[in-house]
Amino acid sequence: MPADAANLFDNSSLFPDETLPGKPRANSNLGLTFRDSKRLPVHGWYPYVEGFSARYIEDLVRAHNSDGIVYDPFGGSGTVNLISSLMGVPSAFSEANPFMRFVAETKVNARHIARLRFAEFERCASAFRTWAYSPDFHRSVREQSLSDYFTAFEGRDFFAEKDIRELQVLRDAARVIGSDNAAFRDLLLLAVASVTVACSHMTRRADLRRRRVDEYKGRVVDVRGAVIEKLASIERDIRVTPAHYAPALFASADCRQSVEQLRGEAGLILTSPPYLNGTSYIRNTKLELWLTGFIRSERELSQLNKTCMVCGISNVVKGRPAEHRFGAVEAVAIELDRVSPDLRIPELVRGYFSDMLSMFRNCASYLRPGGRLVLDIGDSQFYGIHVPTDILLGEVASAAGLRLIEERLLARRHSRDKTPLKQVELTFANAH
Ligand SMILES: C[S@@+](CC[C@H](N)C(=O)[O-])C[C@H]1O[C@@H](n2cnc3c(N)ncnc32)[C@H](O)[C@@H]1O
Repeated sequence: MPADAANLFDNSSLFPDETLPGKPRANSNLGLTFRDSKRLPVHGWYPYVEGFSARYIEDLVRAHNSDGIVYDPFGGSGTVNLISSLMGVPSAFSEANPFMRFVAETKVNARHIARLRFAEFERCASAFRTWAYSPDFHRSVREQSLSDYFTAFEGRDFFAEKDIRELQVLRDAARVIGSDNAAFRDLLLLAVASVTVACSHMTRRADLRRRRVDEYKGRVVDVRGAVIEKLASIERDIRVTPAHYAPALFASADCRQSVEQLRGEAGLILTSPPYLNGTSYIRNTKLELWLTGFIRSERELSQLNKTCMVCGISNVVKGRPAEHRFGAVEAVAIELDRVSPDLRIPELVRGYFSDMLSMFRNCASYLRPGGRLVLDIGDSQFYGIHVPTDILLGEVASAAGLRLIEERLLARRHSRDKTPLKQVELTFANAH
């Protein structure tokens, strides 16, 4: 931690309760989700249901105040990096989804540039608003071609025609109006991307799916209004967030690959790995991936999916056995071989823990002496077979040279068949 940032590790929160009207700081750490972050400045810019609770991360970074950088191997929307940055602690992250990398870098690095040059950023945002309410906007919407959209999502009506035209027009305007400054451009683009699902026929609860007819009754989609409102909240948040800043380095897309530059650099590794059979991270953001130009066609999603660790059925590749096997994991997988009608489920379990070994090995080499790896994870149940993820991860981490030093209950959960499950926090140290 840099000396000039030391005063940030006092007891005052980065986001005191006044910033959250009617929502007191949780005094128990039960049920930690992104819900807590949605209304916090900057964290709420992009609604990522898989995201961490910002205040939980803030407490952990404060508690593990140590030398070295903070690293998140599964960076997602950049909660760990944003908190670290605002505390003046340099950080790094890996993230398989290029759109989520964009979200994280915009929240941390672009936000900082816009804060330093706030008057200039306000002029840029104001030029964008003026254009959006000018006759040029309506002309551009009329002339906007839908061919890119149909190339990407042939025969799929994810949007009303008027709304997808407006989204594309506003995206293009963000690129042109922000063309002199990449940080400003990215902030404008994020304002457009963040409202994309809300302006579509889809919804994202756990997974991206079509809205039912009885959902969001009476909803009126106003794309331009939603983008301008999002931009206003971005401007407001940039004004109120602390100027303290340390950069967040994008280390790699795939945390299973080792990054030489991080060796011996991390004082704290803080992460929320994908849950077993969790979300389909890439597919869930396909609309934003397309709108921001990371894919041109839905077919490219499967290529991006390969960067993701094995955590869902869609990542299980037929005929590619898991690289590493562990006794305790095998015991559960063999049970699943026996009962699961879908043969991919036991392979999912094998692949998940095999990939987690690669991540743990890299993390063990990044940790400084005395450093800690803290992760939150939940257990799972398939066809009546319980997968004690926390226990199995302890075994896998130990094979990577890490020692479990603490396990803490964070929340109680339930499987679909009401079997009690839990969310726990595991803390590891290097074994030697
Ligand atoms: C539970 S989310 C993390 C959310 C994050 N804590 C936040 O606050 O936004 C897990 C993330 O891991 C990413 N991921 C999956 N496989 C990965 C891999 N092999 N390397 C890096 N990131 C990966 C997913 O794209 C997803 O964003």
